Amino acid sequence: MTKSSALYKQTVTIAMTGASGAQYGLRLLEVLVQHQVQVFFMISKAAQVVVATETDWKLPGKPDVLAEYFQQRFQAKQGQIQVFGREQWMAPVASGSGAPSQMVVCPCSTGTLSAIATGASNNLIERAADVALKERRQLILVPRETPYSAIHLEHMLKLTQLGVTILPASPGFYQKPQSIDDMVDFVVARILNQLGIDHQLLPRWGE
Ligand SMILES: Cc1cc2nc3c(=O)[nH]c(=O)nc-3n(C[C@H](O)[C@H](O)[C@H](O)COP(=O)(O)O)c2cc1C
Repeated sequence: MTKSSALYKQTVTIAMTGASGAQYGLRLLEVLVQHQVQVFFMISKAAQVVVATETDWKLPGKPDVLAEYFQQRFQAKQGQIQVFGREQWMAPVASGSGAPSQMVVCPCSTGTLSAIATGASNNLIERAADVALKERRQLILVPRETPYSAIHLEHMLKLTQLGVTILPASPGFYQKPQSIDDMVDFVVARILNQLGIDHQLLPRWGE
């Protein structure tokens, strides 16, 4: 646990990888900050490309500069968002002794899905997910691809059987979304439900 972790009741690790749907990961980060959650954040090179393609955000490449950028953008507390680099092997998420109890890969590319299913651990995102698995922590993957191949489905089945939550970025339409933001919030709300975080993003079924 880092010093500042003691200030927050919950720490969630978010890893953004290079599937379409950067908005899901960025909105998840924003909402977690609003809920006074500490966030450990990682982003893959491909996800940086997707963010630049799908949004008007200009994310800095260096982890400490990115942390500062998010802190200002989301009015987070000093240290609330900690950003780790791709090969920052001394980061807490790289080891079972320091790993936070909840990790979300959002969005999750099929490449990272495959790496997690096979234990590749070739970068810090893959290693952190591997640690979450070995330590039996909560791991949520938000894949986005269509259609899925048998390889993708086999990896998802294997990981589900290991206790991982596969939560596809599949917004529903029964709440009559009025905007893309509504559709993004649909998926983010499902992630928050899994993390045990009370929220008002969407009415619950039956309300
Ligand atoms: C604009 C853009 C959109 C992409 N969309 C997807 C996608 O929806 N799903 C997916 O699995 N890969 C998608 N990819 C491909 C991945 O980014 C690529 O396989 C990459 O190697 C994944 O690396 P990562 O897992 O380290 O992020 C996309 C790439 C780009 C540039």
